[in-house]
Amino acid sequence: MKAVVFEKYGPPEVLQLKKIEKPTPKENEVLIKIYATSVTAADWRMRKPDPFLARMMNGIFAPKKFNILGIELAGVVEAVGNEVTKFQPGDEIFGTTGFTFRAYAEYVCIPEDSDGNDGSITHKPTNLTFGEAAVIPVGADTALFFLRTQGNIQPGQKVLIYGASSSVGSYGVQLAKHFGAEVTAVCSASNHEWVKELGADKMIDYRMEDFTQSGETYDAIFDAVGKLSLSGSMKALKDGGVFLDAVHMMRRSVQAKFAPKKNNKRILGGTATGLHEDLIYFKELIEAGHLKPVIDRTYPLEEIVEATRYVETGRKKGNVVITVVET
Ligand SMILES: NC(=O)c1ccc[n+]([C@@H]2O[C@H](COP(=O)([O-])OP(=O)(O)OC[C@H]3O[C@@H](n4cnc5c(N)ncnc54)[C@H](OP(=O)(O)O)[C@@H]3O)[C@@H](O)[C@H]2O)c1
Repeated sequence: MKAVVFEKYGPPEVLQLKKIEKPTPKENEVLIKIYATSVTAADWRMRKPDPFLARMMNGIFAPKKFNILGIELAGVVEAVGNEVTKFQPGDEIFGTTGFTFRAYAEYVCIPEDSDGNDGSITHKPTNLTFGEAAVIPVGADTALFFLRTQGNIQPGQKVLIYGASSSVGSYGVQLAKHFGAEVTAVCSASNHEWVKELGADKMIDYRMEDFTQSGETYDAIFDAVGKLSLSGSMKALKDGGVFLDAVHMMRRSVQAKFAPKKNNKRILGGTATGLHEDLIYFKELIEAGHLKPVIDRTYPLEEIVEATRYVETGRKKGNVVITVVET
């Protein structure tokens, strides 16, 4: 089968299209023919690799544990192991391969009951294409993890989503709105129109206005792109408010430790776990019309290097899809 392999860490050009052996499902595994995948921050962070934690996960000097990237996908079940009961050949599915990656390929095997870090799949929302479904798991699950699990967002709360035009931010706007919050979206003016259509109540252009200086305060500030100053943001939180930090890297962890946290204000980071029940929740929300993916560009698997270069500009709007099978 075709797969994009990386045998050393480095720039996007280390990604190379090769022929490798097609996987065979074990007793408890589902063999998926991948129709679409994506380029996420997790992919480029593991390839660069950035941070050093990536080398700890996948080999200090060269990729060892996995040498195929791609962490989310949509496709069709081609075969199932003898113990599999929930899926059958022909089922259309979407999901994540978790921290085993391997979705930049024509086929992948995932255990039927895996959850979180080992990946997770469920049936694809009926009203989405494969490309649309492939870009749901990571961005939506990250937004859900921060807004519901960490932030416990309640109806009527004031929530600010910083970097609302990112993948995580675009799902964050929709989920916060769905939870009944009053949503302020911060992104550049060129993205205001479509982000507002996702449900934002107020728009701020971060290039023209510093929201931390306006005197307005929020129950939750969700930094979806890791670009906010912690000290300014803490001032813009209400007493008891929470700063939700999607990009909780070493530097930010140190800043968070020393940031002034008066009046029960909290800073919460963490990593979304990609739970199976979350995928089912997204399927329901999507089919009920409460959640949708925003797609900026689509590239064929053969153009993975160009797609990756584009994502690494840090300017994509929503998501970038990689098509493996044209439909
Ligand atoms: N903790 C977790 O579990 C987890 C999981 C997944 C992802 N993440 C992290 O989440 C981050 C977001 O990833 P993503 O793929 O959703 O988006 P992304 O590609 O990193 O974000 C691109 C968007 O950010 C906007 N942007 C750039 N600079 C900005 C700034 N200074 N202020 C406001 N917006 C700005 C850009 O719009 P303009 O250029 O027009 O401003 C563009 O629309 C990544 O760093 C990733 O590592 C964390």
